[in-house]
Amino acid sequence: MMLRAMIARGKSALDHGRIPNAARDARLLAAHVCNIDQSRVTLHEMDEVAEAAITRFDGAITQRLNHRPVSRIIGARQFWGRMFQITDDVLDPRGDTETLIAEALKYPAKRILDLGTGSGILGITLAAEQVAAFVVVTDISKAALVVAKTNAKRHHVEDRIEFIQSDWFDSLHGKFDLIISNPPYIGENELEGLEPDVIDYDPMIALTPGGDGLAPYRIIAGQAQNHLSKNGRVIAEIGHLQGNNVRKLFLQAGFAGVQILQDLDGKDRAIVAKHPV
Ligand SMILES: C[S@@+](CC[C@H](N)C(=O)[O-])C[C@H]1O[C@@H](n2cnc3c(N)ncnc32)[C@H](O)[C@@H]1O
Repeated sequence: MMLRAMIARGKSALDHGRIPNAARDARLLAAHVCNIDQSRVTLHEMDEVAEAAITRFDGAITQRLNHRPVSRIIGARQFWGRMFQITDDVLDPRGDTETLIAEALKYPAKRILDLGTGSGILGITLAAEQVAAFVVVTDISKAALVVAKTNAKRHHVEDRIEFIQSDWFDSLHGKFDLIISNPPYIGENELEGLEPDVIDYDPMIALTPGGDGLAPYRIIAGQAQNHLSKNGRVIAEIGHLQGNNVRKLFLQAGFAGVQILQDLDGKDRAIVAKHPV
């Protein structure tokens, strides 16, 4: 079968299964099983596909019909221009989280702490973009730290990263110029509204802290000052309706220059707060 026909068959199956963006997903999965770059699929459309690759493609389409995200099927996700390994133990990184990197890079920092690193996208990206930086990345999940280490090696920054298993600040010492975090923040009562691509595949510990979803911000606002150097800053992702509540927590804790940042869709996406010098 030619690549073009295989993609058409996959698209048709995904369309029948009411999977959005069927054509795009079928092309991405075809590129993956044929081991060709996504941008070169058109060039290879008339190529014959080996039986083994067709079998892998059909398997991938079946997974997608079960709402498994393409990034999880191919085991990788691009973030700030770099590819990161994704496994079932980590959150599938979201494009909106790049809002935190754009803000962090405005003020280069020497010592950086990434709380709840998951696949490592925040800490590793900052280490790669700021060659003078030393980064501590933490997670309560040992399995997530294994993925983060693999990604740090992939991007040649493992020598400037320390990996610590910790429940937020519990096992941490020292001060940092920047504390960055994308904590779990979905409230318990919002879980049932999530798409199957999310609720069935992202680890629950990465999605929700339970309750109103604000517990990690209470901890970060309450304890970050003990770990921030003078002029240090916190940048944390927030849910788009949490801006007012999270701002209050940081103001009550005495932070200065508290600001809510919007993502490219204009939705509240992150909080920035400065050490009250
Ligand atoms: C929303 S995910 C973010 C992962 C990654 N930073 C990203 O943006 O893709 C939240 C992460 O926080 C971790 N986490 C959850 N509870 C934690 C805790 N009590 N202490 C430290 N990390 C925790 C989860 O394991 C998960 O990796």
